[in-house]
Amino acid sequence: MPPRVKIAPSLLSADFAQIADQIRLVEEAGADALHLDSMDGRFVPNFTWGPKIVADLRKLTTLPFDCHLMIVEPENYVDAFRAAGADIITFHYEATPHAHRLLQHLRSIGARAGIGINPDTPTSLLVDIVEECDQILVMSVNPGFGGQRFIERALVKLQEVRALCAERNPDCDVEVDGGIGTDNIERAVQAGATMLIAGSSVYAAPDPQAALREMRRRIDALGG
Ligand code: DX5
Ligand code: ZN
Repeated sequence: MPPRVKIAPSLLSADFAQIADQIRLVEEAGADALHLDSMDGRFVPNFTWGPKIVADLRKLTTLPFDCHLMIVEPENYVDAFRAAGADIITFHYEATPHAHRLLQHLRSIGARAGIGINPDTPTSLLVDIVEECDQILVMSVNPGFGGQRFIERALVKLQEVRALCAERNPDCDVEVDGGIGTDNIERAVQAGATMLIAGSSVYAAPDPQAALREMRRRIDALGG
C-alpha cells in the first residue's frame, strides 16, 4: 500500500517580506509539509538560503520541513540543516560522489533521507541505494527556478521509481518537483508520486488557499 499522497508548497515562490503570513496561509489550507529550496549558485544557477533562514522559519510553524538541497558537496552541510530543524533532507545524486554513505548518515542524524535526480539522470542509478532512501525526488524541471514548464518525461520516471520502491522499499515516498499544478496533478499521482511540490501554482495563484484546496480535492477524488 503506497503512503498517503502529500502536498508540500514550495516557499521559493512565496513573498519573503510577508513570510509568516505566507506560511500561515498554506498551513490553514491543509499543507502536509513545507518545501524549502536551498541553492548555492554552483549546483544551480541561482541562490536562496542556508541553515540560518531555515532555523528562523522553524519558529513559525510545526509543519515538517522538506529541505531540498541544490548545492554541491551536500555532505558538508546536512548536519547544519538538521540542527536548523529540517525533518526531510534531500540532496542531489549528481552533487556528491558518495550518495550511499550520505543517505545512511542522514538517517543516523534522525532525518528522513532523500535523494533527488535531475531530468537527465536515469532512474536506474537508484537501483543500489533504494533501501537507504526514505524519499526519492524526481525533478520534473531543471532545478534552479520556480515557474518552469513540467517535463512530461518525468511521468515515466515516476512510474519507474514507484515500481522500484514497490518491490524493495514500499514505505519510500516518491516526490515530484517542478511545474506541478491542476493540469498535471492527477497524472503525477497516477504515475506514482506520493509527495507533490507546488511552488508557483500555489503562491502565484490569486488565492493560494483555494489553489491548494483544489489540489487536495483532486487528489482525494483519486482515492489518494
Ligand atoms: C526548483 C525547485 C522547486 C520549485 C518548484 O528548482 O526545486 O521546488 O519551487 O516551483 P514550481 O512549482 O513553480 O515549478
Ligand atoms: Zn525543490
